[in-house]
Amino acid sequence: MVKLVVTDKDGREVVVDARAGLSIMENIRTLPRSVEAICGGMCACATCHVYVDSSWVGKLPRRSYEEQHMLQDHAAFDAVRSRLSCQIVVREAFDGLPLTVAPDQS
Ligand code: FES
Repeated sequence: MVKLVVTDKDGREVVVDARAGLSIMENIRTLPRSVEAICGGMCACATCHVYVDSSWVGKLPRRSYEEQHMLQDHAAFDAVRSRLSCQIVVREAFDGLPLTVAPDQS
């Protein structure tokens, strides 16, 4: 198992035992006050938006064009830390990854 340290929409920190090979979204969506992921991981809704801890940004795969396109118009977009959690597949090397669920888009 890979530990993800998730801060939910209420600011509570939860440690998730994540399965490698599944996306971050698939590993955290069942938490209360987590991502909604209404498109189911098709990179089409941005409701799986999370902020990755700045110190981890360079350790993750880069955003695809499609992911960047979905994120950049989001009101809560952060140019450095924003990611779509459905677009990142968990690896063993991500053990300890801190991330924060982004606020709902308004
Ligand atoms: S679940 Fe819709 S973009 Fe990630």
